[in-house]
Amino acid sequence: MPAWLDTAIFYEIYPQSFQDSNADGIGDLPGIISRLDYIRELGCTAIWLNPCFDSPFADAGYDIRDYCRVASRYGTNEDIKALFDEVHQRGMRIILDLVPGHTSIEHPWFRESQKPEKNEYSHRYIWTDSIWTGTEDISSVSGWLRGISARNGSCAVNFFSTQPALNYGFAKPTKTWQFSYRSPEAIATREAMKDVMRFWLKMGCDGFRVDMAGSLVKNDPDGEATIELWQDFRKFLDTEFSDAAIISEWGEPDKSLRGGFHMDFLLHFGPSHYNDLFRCDEPYFSHRSKGDASAFIAYYTQVSASVGSEGFICIPSGNHDMPRLAKNLNDEELKLAFVFLLSMPGVPFIYYGDEIGMRYLDGLVSVEGGYNRTGARTPMQWNSHDNAGFSDASPDALYIMQDPDPERPTVEKSLARSDSLYNEIRKLIHIRHTYTPLRNNGTVTFFSGNAPHTYPLVYLRASSDKRILVAINPSARTTRCAIPEIAGGKLLYVCNKPASFSGNNLVIPPSSACFWEI
Ligand code: NOJ
Repeated sequence: MPAWLDTAIFYEIYPQSFQDSNADGIGDLPGIISRLDYIRELGCTAIWLNPCFDSPFADAGYDIRDYCRVASRYGTNEDIKALFDEVHQRGMRIILDLVPGHTSIEHPWFRESQKPEKNEYSHRYIWTDSIWTGTEDISSVSGWLRGISARNGSCAVNFFSTQPALNYGFAKPTKTWQFSYRSPEAIATREAMKDVMRFWLKMGCDGFRVDMAGSLVKNDPDGEATIELWQDFRKFLDTEFSDAAIISEWGEPDKSLRGGFHMDFLLHFGPSHYNDLFRCDEPYFSHRSKGDASAFIAYYTQVSASVGSEGFICIPSGNHDMPRLAKNLNDEELKLAFVFLLSMPGVPFIYYGDEIGMRYLDGLVSVEGGYNRTGARTPMQWNSHDNAGFSDASPDALYIMQDPDPERPTVEKSLARSDSLYNEIRKLIHIRHTYTPLRNNGTVTFFSGNAPHTYPLVYLRASSDKRILVAINPSARTTRCAIPEIAGGKLLYVCNKPASFSGNNLVIPPSSACFWEI
């Protein structure tokens, strides 16, 4: 396990929308370099950069045409090397997005693979043996391409129709055109992906967020073959790049961590009930207090017991695929959501702009395959200049429009207000870095949150020698929680008003949170 993960706090950058340095209306790598000090000042120690590789951008870069070349709109490979260096000079880390499941239809492998003559890439993708045979029996594919070349077969696609699925084989092949995940054909794809990882790790990146990591081996209902595949990747990393970290887009830490991932996200899909907290009609963190965190807590408790210290379960503030936190929560509610996000175990991930409460823009016309995700990908709001300081291009040349609200939050305004969400997050990060029980690898025990009384949320964080009690009451009324054997402590942090002990009962004022060292 790379030791730097124990204290890492990540900041996710969607490169299109962070900072434009050359006035073409789209973010770029020199722009990111110019904002590294901002990220460090917030307290984040690491960056996850969404895909920045050569692509026709039918899915915002998750459709890769060349795995080893930076897309020209973001800069050059020299620029990304400079980014790695600048990040490291600040004592920070940076991981890239690895998209192993599919390429763009414009990838040279796919062009070769479409040829009727057998060649090195004929089995790099999942092809049936006739164009009249589809891929409807294959798990986690979204359809197939056919009639696009002289090759007599249909090719499975993973997400959009322009993203043909790479062939990592099948758990149990049942057709002549299906290969075992241990076959030489499937292993060839695996090795090609290791070469991609080697390329960037040698250049200086610190690891990868892995796209759709749980779906590489097809027809693998219990995930065991996919787990075996990732164990092989992990062995490769441990041998050649032992300080590199991998985090999966999988959403089932009990599987992904066994596969060798150092961390896995809880996400808006999967069994975790992550959305119950922040993104549903009645989110737990709304002051209406009609939400319910019990299913989340039950899942979290069970899965963290099963993974033990094998790796980290990460609860992100959001990402480029889901509506922003601010869609369902106001500024005060957001603060309490961040008290939770920054006091739970696991490696925190903050999606750019969430720290200033950037809004989700409903109803935007889709940009580069964003569809309803487009509203969570709008340009960063830095200051009161044109385009909120994101770009010197004319507003209609921006990649995605800027939030038009004159009251939109900006970094400038957030820095100036001592009670801003940004300053609260900064404070929370500082506390997390200072107190060992709050660090990524401390344990958590919940005292509350069980149905039907799911307010307040009270839990104990512990490291080998210290304990911190966390109490969060998102609701608009005072709430109580019985805390056996704890009747006081040293107050470390208060959001809004402090709670008080009444015997073994904790009484928490409305919309408030606090931490005690006990
Ligand atoms: C998950 C990524 O986060 C998403 O943005 C992308 O569209 C799909 N995977 C397909 O790669």
